[in-house]
Amino acid sequence: MTAAPATKGLIQLRDVRKSFGGTEVLKGIDLTVEPGEVVAILGPSGSGKSTLLRTINHLEKVDGGTIAVDGELVGYAVRGGRLHELREHEILRQRTHIGMVFQNFNLFPHLTALENIVEAPVYAQKKDKAQARERGLELLRRVGLEDRADAYPRQLSGGQQQRVAIARALALDPKVVLFDEPTSALDPELVGEVLDVIRALASSGTTLVIVTHEMGFARDVADRVVFMDEGRVVEQGTPTQIFGDPRHERTRTFLSKVIEPAFNL
Ligand SMILES: Nc1ncnc2c1ncn2[C@@H]1O[C@H](COP(=O)(O)OP(=O)(O)O)[C@@H](O)[C@H]1O
Ligand SMILES: [Mg+2]
Repeated sequence: MTAAPATKGLIQLRDVRKSFGGTEVLKGIDLTVEPGEVVAILGPSGSGKSTLLRTINHLEKVDGGTIAVDGELVGYAVRGGRLHELREHEILRQRTHIGMVFQNFNLFPHLTALENIVEAPVYAQKKDKAQARERGLELLRRVGLEDRADAYPRQLSGGQQQRVAIARALALDPKVVLFDEPTSALDPELVGEVLDVIRALASSGTTLVIVTHEMGFARDVADRVVFMDEGRVVEQGTPTQIFGDPRHERTRTFLSKVIEPAFNL
């Protein structure tokens, strides 16, 4: 497969706010991800990382601010100077451009690996079934699982299931792919195979936003690291800057907790 030129996948968040009950969990997030860029989001549990990813494909409605992908507002249209939420089928259409990979894979248990991959292209995008299968097999090859096309999720290891989930996300030819802690449900020896697939994807020109606790991976693969705490972006910069010389005390404290224990075993 040839690498796509990095001409799509611009994500723009402006003052994004989200509350649950009375608690504001996103407190005005401004973030731009350039086409083809790989951004790692770090931060303590509860800081709003998953909620932020979920707003980008409108799995969560925002309470304020705007999100656009390639200049198109996500979840809303402007009519008469006001924002109106899109209809369900328009939201689903937008969502097909935004791939999402979850911590727990979320494969359909009653479908084989290949069926999981072709389901959305065939039923949501109305693609030709034979072509979708062909493309599905190509994607399975890309994630190193061409020989497991007919296996059901329960017959696959966690690492293999996550690689199928990544192939499924790619089957819709997304503009961006969002990863929410893609390796944190895996046994340690299976983490590497999934990170290798994401690493290959990172160099293919697809825009990636990756919430991760794998600091070494973030340092190697990300163009930019964003540190979140308590619903805000505390700081962002290159991996060298964030890991080597963080400006904020909260970033330092977080990094010292997640990085140093590994060296003190
Ligand atoms: N659907 C929900 N209903 C109520 N509270 C939620 C919901 N989703 C997330 N939260 C709360 O929002 C905060 C941020 O959660 P989350 O985005 O999952 O953080 P992170 O992914 O950084 O751990 C947490 O306090 C969490 O309990
Ligand atoms: Mg989370």
